[in-house]
Amino acid sequence: MKKILITRKLLRECEDKAAKIFEASFNSNDELYSQSKVIEMSKGYDGILTSLTDKMDAETINKLPDTIKILSNFAVGFGNIDLEAAKKRGIAVTNTPDVLTDATAEIGILLILGACRRAHEGILDAKESNWKWSADYLIGKQLTGSRLGILGMGRIGQKIAKIAKSLGMIIHYHNRSKLSNEKEDGAIYHDNLKDLLSVSDVLSVCCPASKETIDMINKDTIEYLPKGAVVTNVARGDIIDDEALIDALDRRKVYAVGLDVYKNEPNLNPGYLKHKSAFILPHLGSATKETRTAMANLAIDNIDEFFKTGNCTNKVN
Ligand code: GLV
Repeated sequence: MKKILITRKLLRECEDKAAKIFEASFNSNDELYSQSKVIEMSKGYDGILTSLTDKMDAETINKLPDTIKILSNFAVGFGNIDLEAAKKRGIAVTNTPDVLTDATAEIGILLILGACRRAHEGILDAKESNWKWSADYLIGKQLTGSRLGILGMGRIGQKIAKIAKSLGMIIHYHNRSKLSNEKEDGAIYHDNLKDLLSVSDVLSVCCPASKETIDMINKDTIEYLPKGAVVTNVARGDIIDDEALIDALDRRKVYAVGLDVYKNEPNLNPGYLKHKSAFILPHLGSATKETRTAMANLAIDNIDEFFKTGNCTNKVN
């Protein structure tokens, strides 16, 4: 049996599954291991089931024991792992695509609704019994007829587009390449970021974090948005320059934000906390029982496939 270090606590049935296939080390207290602890603990192990909270940068990867052959990331995103460093050491990196598309798109839509319809302010008022119905109370932005700009039209972006379309939004997108007509499903393609932003009444950031996308939404690009646009992010915090977005909220260039992901999680930029028009969630994208179970099972299957066949369908490096 292969020896696998599992860095975070998984749902019970997934740990049971892992225990049947591997000699697995579990983290029953769900302690956040430091990078040096992961290096230390992985001695004598064949692979690591990492999560997005494990920072596997080049320095950490270079210190892993030679026995480690796979990092199976319990996430679709893999911005926490230096793919090149892993490749150089002959370590495969895998992720868990598809299984979290629906759950994450649901949160993407919640962010759009929460930001556009002033849910944060409404909750605060309702809790404090500080409201009365009136014709002009907490007037928000209606989705029907507004333009949704999707940055990154992968699986999650496409699902958000589908739901948003059913709500009457007009879908625009920017992606490295134009999708087939079938996948596009009537959405309007922009081959550059500027053109997309200039038509985005609401922006939904859905692209992976990479060297190319870090701080893509910044002081300069925010200016391309129409005045009073809404910015939402269901992907990764690294894609947004927080200071620039908070400044845009201060100036009312941006009407509201809906965020589920942040730079430096869980220590999000405190500037967001003072804004009533910031609808913020604590990285809940894939947090449903069905999805977290499917993700962990896939992360386990990826390791199993890799050791059985020498390769894995979900290998990303
Ligand atoms: C969640 O954020 C993931 O990348 O799976």
